[in-house]
Amino acid sequence: MKKISIVFHSVCGNNYLIAKEFYENLKNKNMKVNLFRVKDDNFEKLSNILEIAKEYRDEIMSVEIYNFKELLDSDIIILGSPTYFGNVSAQIKVFMDEFVDYWVDANFYGKKLFSFACAGTTEGGGDMCLNAINIFGQHMGMSNVPVPSNLVLGESFPAYGLVHYVGDNADKRPSTKIKNAIDKICDILINL
Ligand SMILES: Cc1cc2nc3c(=O)[nH]c(=O)nc-3n(C[C@H](O)[C@H](O)[C@H](O)COP(=O)(O)O)c2cc1C
Repeated sequence: MKKISIVFHSVCGNNYLIAKEFYENLKNKNMKVNLFRVKDDNFEKLSNILEIAKEYRDEIMSVEIYNFKELLDSDIIILGSPTYFGNVSAQIKVFMDEFVDYWVDANFYGKKLFSFACAGTTEGGGDMCLNAINIFGQHMGMSNVPVPSNLVLGESFPAYGLVHYVGDNADKRPSTKIKNAIDKICDILINL
């Protein structure tokens, strides 16, 4: 059976909720799945500035931090980041840079990578955030899993990952539309 690890960074809760949705959906489909967060030394500071961040703060902090033993043992990695200034967050970048030890021996070569992101607005660069994750995956030799065109059609999802738009106050929580898309993507990941 395939093993899947989900890794996310979240301050205001949206990437956490998406990661959790993936986790629960895959668990319900009897998959071996891990839910991990990245390290975040800035969390307390940002969560004191952003009121919405208080809602899921304790839940987010209770999620285990990733470890490379489990990631190396996974067939598929699902990675989600907030869009910060048209890119991944610094915390996700630090996480990605920690793969340097495994890049040398191509330990992640052939694994699958699915990316998701949250962004304030549709013009905010969520697609560039996905792009940063996907390019990282390619450097590691991982194959990016695209969103199929019949899911993209009529929706606002780009082909190269899932983006959820959270609004200016980051309080638009993932909708049924996102949850339905996650359900279909989980089926795709299971059958890869
Ligand atoms: C430092 C910072 C930079 C941001 N830059 C962008 C941006 O460039 N484009 C955008 O659409 N949203 C931007 N946002 C909004 C975040 O993308 C949004 O709050 C985040 O994705 C929500 O994810 P979370 O709920 O998991 O924390 C920014 C937010 C912060 C705190």
